[in-house]
Amino acid sequence: MATIGKDIEKAATLLRAGNLIGLPTETVYGLAGNGLDCVAISAIYATKQRPATNPLILHVASMEMLMRLVSNVSEVAYKIIDAYWPGPLTLLLPKSDLVPACVNAGLPHVAIRFPKHGLCNSLLQILDFPLAAPSANPYTYISPTAAWHVQKMLGGKIPYILDGGVCDVGIESTIVGFDGDTPIIYRKGAISPEEIEALVGRVAVYEGNETLAPGMHKKHYCPTTPVRLVKDIDELKELQAKTKNLGFISLGVNPGFIATSNFISLGNAGATKEAARNIYNAMHQLDDMQLDVMAIMALPEDGVGAALNDRLMRAAELVD
Ligand code: TXA
Ligand code: MG
Repeated sequence: MATIGKDIEKAATLLRAGNLIGLPTETVYGLAGNGLDCVAISAIYATKQRPATNPLILHVASMEMLMRLVSNVSEVAYKIIDAYWPGPLTLLLPKSDLVPACVNAGLPHVAIRFPKHGLCNSLLQILDFPLAAPSANPYTYISPTAAWHVQKMLGGKIPYILDGGVCDVGIESTIVGFDGDTPIIYRKGAISPEEIEALVGRVAVYEGNETLAPGMHKKHYCPTTPVRLVKDIDELKELQAKTKNLGFISLGVNPGFIATSNFISLGNAGATKEAARNIYNAMHQLDDMQLDVMAIMALPEDGVGAALNDRLMRAAELVD
């Protein structure tokens, strides 16, 4: 299994030698390697069993590093950077010649993120290369939000997990690309389309297919246990009646008819931000219990709720 610790010098030494590590960020844990080294990058794809046609995000901790990786930053992109970096937001920008095709599937754009996590940023600052880091889960499985999630899923395949505690945001970054000057939201996250719209004017939410946005494939965030997204207590009752061993995740308290050990609360009713922080941990916990079905109550659509429901739809394989 991997060693778990807080030693950024050790992490840096491993990364410089071409190894992969588990990397904490404020969104989810990443599986990180040297983002300019195609050997490390192919190890990331192999470790995750992810197709190499699905590009990776490069993580930076300075504007200098950003400028080495992109050929242009538009005025609109600068505004978004000013407002949200460091933070849970990834930008798709035209790549520079330094970015190898192996990291972004040969596309003209590269995904860049400047995380807001102390240990992660301290590590990035002592490296002279960006870190390529997809979420540290096997392809299509639930993302990790704690070191033990990474250990459980990939610990046998990597030497070290940098332990940055439980991720504060809890779901993956908002991904923003551009069509001319119009921001396009490719993946919803803690920073909502409305917030970006308030900052720079009209935005569009991408609703195209997987070929154009590789990350938007329908099977995603899936535990081994089948997930059912329920709208209300009646639907949950119906499901309970035909399921031997049912798990249930929701905001608020146990409706009463679910076994105490099978119920996980995401926080107080209406607290979508707290729900985001807790959702993947709840799914990891229930998935370790060999249940027949994991039911999850759809969340209110306000704040980060829409981004959460989007992920739950994919976990329940309801997106086509
Ligand atoms: O919060 C996050 O973004 C986390 C942490 C570790 O930073 N990372 C993450 O990476 O979620 P990943 O690989 O699991 O998801 C990145 C998504 C993928 O769906 C990928 O297809 C999409 O971003 N993506 C990356 N580069 C792209 C590009 N050039 N064009 C379109 N989509 C891209
Ligand atoms: Mg992922």
